Formats: sequence, structure tokens, C-alpha cells
Amino acid sequence: MSDTGELARRHIVLGLSGGVACYKAADLARELVKAGATVQVVMTEAACRFITPVTMQALSGRPVFTNQWDAREGNNMAHINLTREADAVVVAPASADFIAQLAQGRADELLSLLCLARPAQAVPLLVAPAMNREMWAHPATQRNVAQIRADGAFVLGPAAGDQACGEIGDGRMLEADELRDELIAHFQPKVLAGRTLLVTAGPTFEALDPVRGITNLSSGKMGFAIARAAAEAGASVTLVAGPVHQPTPRGVRRIDVSSAEQMLAAVLPEAKVHEVFVATAAVADWRPAEVAAQKMKKDASRDGAGRVPAIAFVENPDILATVARLPAAERPFCVGFAAESHDIVRHAREKLARKGVPLIVANDGPATFGRDDNTLVLVDAQGERALPPGDKLTLARALVAEIAARAPRRPA
Ligand code: CTP
Repeated sequence: MSDTGELARRHIVLGLSGGVACYKAADLARELVKAGATVQVVMTEAACRFITPVTMQALSGRPVFTNQWDAREGNNMAHINLTREADAVVVAPASADFIAQLAQGRADELLSLLCLARPAQAVPLLVAPAMNREMWAHPATQRNVAQIRADGAFVLGPAAGDQACGEIGDGRMLEADELRDELIAHFQPKVLAGRTLLVTAGPTFEALDPVRGITNLSSGKMGFAIARAAAEAGASVTLVAGPVHQPTPRGVRRIDVSSAEQMLAAVLPEAKVHEVFVATAAVADWRPAEVAAQKMKKDASRDGAGRVPAIAFVENPDILATVARLPAAERPFCVGFAAESHDIVRHAREKLARKGVPLIVANDGPATFGRDDNTLVLVDAQGERALPPGDKLTLARALVAEIAARAPRRPA
């Protein structure tokens, strides 16, 4: 059992029922092990037709269970023993037939038997459906899915897309990394359940002409980590992102923008319908006063004396300050970031007052841009407090817990 990784000290029973998506379960076993979990694979007879227990044993590092009569267990009760140590049972792929078995509480095979025999309160059941789109859409399957949800199972996906049968539609199993992230999210405390959070992330790009512009080194990692942590905590999250190369966290609604003005235009209507606004974007303070409609040619841009062009700037709107000045009924709880290169807390305190926000999170800009780890200091009217240093996702989760405790609920 590993002490590091997002799933450190978690023991997962990974169940495979029959389906082509069993090939993705091999990857999933690897992803879970890489994330620090111990993985006990249980396969149905049908699953063994699609992928061999040898592969799953090699990837999980443990002998696979396939049969309820397996005599390896001292008391011959694999169905009991396997779930008593587990933190979760994940069935991926879950076939239409397997979901039907769950819905009926059947126990024909070891996997359905252990799902029924698990201590349901302590060991959650996560199910990743994988089947042809017609099977998924069939009222019988939809009825069964609704039933297992009502019985407490968590249904992950399915996604839409190309299917093994050549058809296109709903029923594809989620990818291994998506399932891993769903499981990681499952274990996070739901401190923002039912709440709404808007976050800006990344740099802005201020165009000079169609091919050039002014930007900065912000990677967007902190803002994306906050969006992910808030979604994991149960919030409904909207992320307004400048030009960055970051994957959208699962379940997060993303709006891509380029310039500060576009970011403000995207943020303002959203801010009025979100309870929390976190401004992590490194918004350019200035933009070129004029944007050339065509590429500025080198020689043609010199003035009469042969001088290269000078760029005149105008100030960009302050997005955070604008949101913080909304009328109280429309104003979210505002959290600003302060990326500083020196006198970090003093500058953060000055921004707290200037922008009129209840919380500023200060960090050392040059030391953190593009990196995975960071240090954060919370600065508010009462004083300042550093969060324990960590990677950006760990810090984002700590910050989300702080925000959950501080942000007042908006009347519905
Ligand atoms: N911010 C914003 N809109 C701007 C500038 C900043 O919303 N036009 C937000 C940032 O997202 C951050 C906070 O304001 O949450 C502080 O940003 P920072 O760049 O540190 O501060 P500035 O106000 O630009 O001040 P300075 O450049 O003097 O440090």
C-alpha cells in the first residue's frame, strides 16, 4: 500500500463484467495503482472472455477472484472478505446485464454477490456502464439505472462517442483517467454541495495585430486546480479561462476567452448567478491602445525618422474590483489572488482594501508560475495565515474548505 498519491491508503475492489470496455479496465487498474491504491480485481465469467485474469493480476499485483467457490479464502467466503477491507467497489465495465442483476439484488456470481454483501453504508458502489447505445437507451436499462441510483450506487458516465459495434451514441465507458478522477473526487468532503463557484484562470492576451500580442507567464494551473477542487467538493463550477493548455476538470463548465475585456464580458453575467467568485487570472493591466487590423510590417511601420513603432497602452478593466462593486444582492463572495514578487503580505493587504474584497490569497508570483507546488497566505480583515505548503491541488482543496466556511449562502 502506498503512502503517496491521490488514492494512497485506499483499497479498491475493481469489478469487471463482460464487455469490450474490459480493455479499458486494464488501464484503470494501472491508473489506480499509480495513484497509490491497492486494487483487488474481481471478474465475472463473461469478463474473462474479453480479457484474461493474467493481465489483470499482473497490473494489480494481486491474484484475481472470479468465482464464489474460490477455496483460497480460509473461511471460503470471498464475497464477504473482499469487501470488508475495501474503501469502494468500482464496477468498470458494468454491462446492461450486470446493472440488471444489481437492480434486482441477484447474487449469481461472485461480483454481484459481493456487491450485495458489502456493507453499503461504509463501502460505496461506483458503476461505470458500458454498452451499445440502444441497450443504454432501452427503458429496461434506464429503469435499472434509476433503481441502482435509488439504492445508493454512483453511476459514472457513460460518455457518448464511437462504439465498438460501429454505432455512435451514449454508452461508451468513461476513460481510465476520467474514472480515476471520479473516484478521487468521490473521496473528497462535499463542503460545497449545492453551491455555485465561478473562477477565472490563466493569462489574458492583448492583441497588437492579428499575429502579435502581449501576455504573461501564468499557466492557469492554480485556477484550474481550484475549479477541480470545487467540483470535487460538490459545487457547480464555471471556469473562465484565458489562453492556456490545461485540460478542463471533469464536471466543470468552461468558457474560453482571450483578452481582459472578453474576460470581463464573460464574467459579469456569470458573477451575478454564482455564490462565490475566485479571481486567479493574471489579467493584463494594460492593452495596446490600438489594434492593427493587418499584420504590422517591419519596414512599413517605421516613422519618417526611421524609428520603430512605440506602443501606447490603455488600462484594462479590473474584473475583480468590478464584481466586488456589484449591488449586494448580485454580488458573490469575492476571493482575489495577489501574485507578488516582493513584500507579499503588504501588497496583498493593500489589494484587499483597494478591490473591496473579503479575502485575498497571496503568493509569490515568479516562484509559482507554471509550477505544480505553491505557498499561499490568506489575508483578510482579521489578519493573515499561511496554508501548509503543498502542490496546487492540495492547496486548492484547503482553500475551497476555507471558502466553504466563509461564503454566505445566497437566498434561492
Ligand atoms: N485582477 C482582475 N482584473 C485586473 C487585474 C487583476 O480581476 N484587470 C484580479 C486578479 O485576478 C487577482 C487580483 O485582481 O485576483 C490581483 O491581481 P494582481 O495582478 O496581483 O493585481 P493588480 O490589481 O494588477 O495590481 P499590481 O499589478 O499593481 O500588482
